Amino acid sequence: MYRLIYKSESANTLDWEQVRNILLHSEKNNEDLGITGTLLASEHHFLQVIEGKFEQVNKLFMTIVQDKRHHNIQLISFDLIDSRLFAGWGMKGLGLFDVNADQAAQLKQKYGEQSGEVKFPLESWQILSLINDLDMMQALPDWKNQ
Ligand SMILES: Cc1cc2nc3c(=O)[nH]c(=O)nc-3n(C[C@H](O)[C@H](O)[C@H](O)COP(=O)(O)O)c2cc1C
Repeated sequence: MYRLIYKSESANTLDWEQVRNILLHSEKNNEDLGITGTLLASEHHFLQVIEGKFEQVNKLFMTIVQDKRHHNIQLISFDLIDSRLFAGWGMKGLGLFDVNADQAAQLKQKYGEQSGEVKFPLESWQILSLINDLDMMQALPDWKNQ
């Protein structure tokens, strides 16, 4: 089992609708390929974690890098793993544009800031920590912008 992480710049300013379209398409496809993972989006960046068998992860990544909806794709890690972190998720979506101002400030303080956005880290352990933080924020009743 392998886990691949990359980040990229979005071609458009992102909103949840665009991310949702990608997720809707990915769910069935990923399920068929035995792929699980997370797609994290800010207004201008994507960050994706893809878990599955070596061949399937490679193949999907090659498809994704050719997608015109993003560019400047940077591979962060491609590791052999013992078990999945996102079992049960064909592709879990997380939107940074949905956090409230307090939460955004908290994340910026922890992970840094880039062009007014929470900076996406370049180390895989920091990325997994950011995903975990966002997961917990989403679980709170007031996580969405009011
Ligand atoms: C940031 C980003 C992440 C994506 N993630 C996935 C994914 O996890 N699974 C998937 O099947 N397609 C994903 N896609 C879409 C693929 O790039 C591609 O459009 C799709 O797999 C083509 O499917 P089709 O051959 O059925 O039309 C992603 C696209 C973008 C821009």
